[in-house]
Amino acid sequence: MKDKVLKVLKESDDFISGEQLSKQLGVSRTAVWKAVTKLKEEGYDITSVTRKGYQLVHTPDKLTKQEIQYGLNTKIGREIYCYDEIDSTNQQVKRLVLEGAKNGSLVIAEEQTKGKGSKGRGWVSPSGTGIWMSCLLTPDINPTKAPMVTIVAGLAVCQAIQEVVGIEAGIKWPNDIVIQKKKVCGILTEMSAEMDHLNYLVLGIGINVNQESFPEEIKEIATSLKLESNTNVSRVVLLQEVLKKFEKYYDIFISDGDLRSLIDEYKQYSVTLNSKVRVTNREEEIEGTIVDINEFGELRLSQANGEDTMVRSGDVSVRGLYGYV
Ligand code: BTN
Repeated sequence: MKDKVLKVLKESDDFISGEQLSKQLGVSRTAVWKAVTKLKEEGYDITSVTRKGYQLVHTPDKLTKQEIQYGLNTKIGREIYCYDEIDSTNQQVKRLVLEGAKNGSLVIAEEQTKGKGSKGRGWVSPSGTGIWMSCLLTPDINPTKAPMVTIVAGLAVCQAIQEVVGIEAGIKWPNDIVIQKKKVCGILTEMSAEMDHLNYLVLGIGINVNQESFPEEIKEIATSLKLESNTNVSRVVLLQEVLKKFEKYYDIFISDGDLRSLIDEYKQYSVTLNSKVRVTNREEEIEGTIVDINEFGELRLSQANGEDTMVRSGDVSVRGLYGYV
């Protein structure tokens, strides 16, 4: 009932009487009043005036299923699981898979107590300030293509930031979104797969949105959209835009089978293209200049000895930046 009352209030620009609401929804005026009281408790600012009725004047920036789905037409996010607190949204997706969760299910938390970063690191995820989201995807692709989904997500996040906040973010290959050399978003794609069959992917995205400060240990390397733009950013609007952009690019990626239609746009956001870098992965450490990123999302590294190497995964340190001297 609460959801239905909210929908009507959102859609009306003026006051709407209790009587009208009760007629429209086919419930008693007491039921309407109870729903309004509940909404107020949740932070909705609803003015009630005798003989005029109710008017919604302010919507809280809470990541509720209802707020996220309002006006959203993506397939991703038709099933949404929202939590005030969870260990990690990625972990929660994996648990929900065991309960039969479907492709496109989305897990959102106001706070993560054990947010996972890449390379076994943690991810600081305080309450109410960021977007901590994970999406369950079951594409019919070879497991070797899973890292391309990270590339697709990076492009989607950069574009969503540009559209909603109006500032340009860059991508430090493969999964760091940065502004002014500081990290504003991280992407962690995990998968469950057999040798040549992908069971599912968990696409985890963490965006620092309205934080005003960061813990000592990361304050030199992390930033938020609020710190960079000097404005409070609506997490709901940004999340909806990320989902729209991601779905658009993800569908293209799935139909092409690689990143051929997207990589040029991705490269425009790259802060590492044409930079001297050191790439560290499990096998080796290579130095060189990134001269290209191909349709599989791999780096072409030109080394001092004149040889070119293709790099599929690893940590990139940029010479003179991000702690690499
Ligand atoms: C990185 O280290 O850059 C990746 C960070 C990914 C963080 C996000 S927040 C939502 C999702 N749940 C997690 O536990 N991690 C990812």
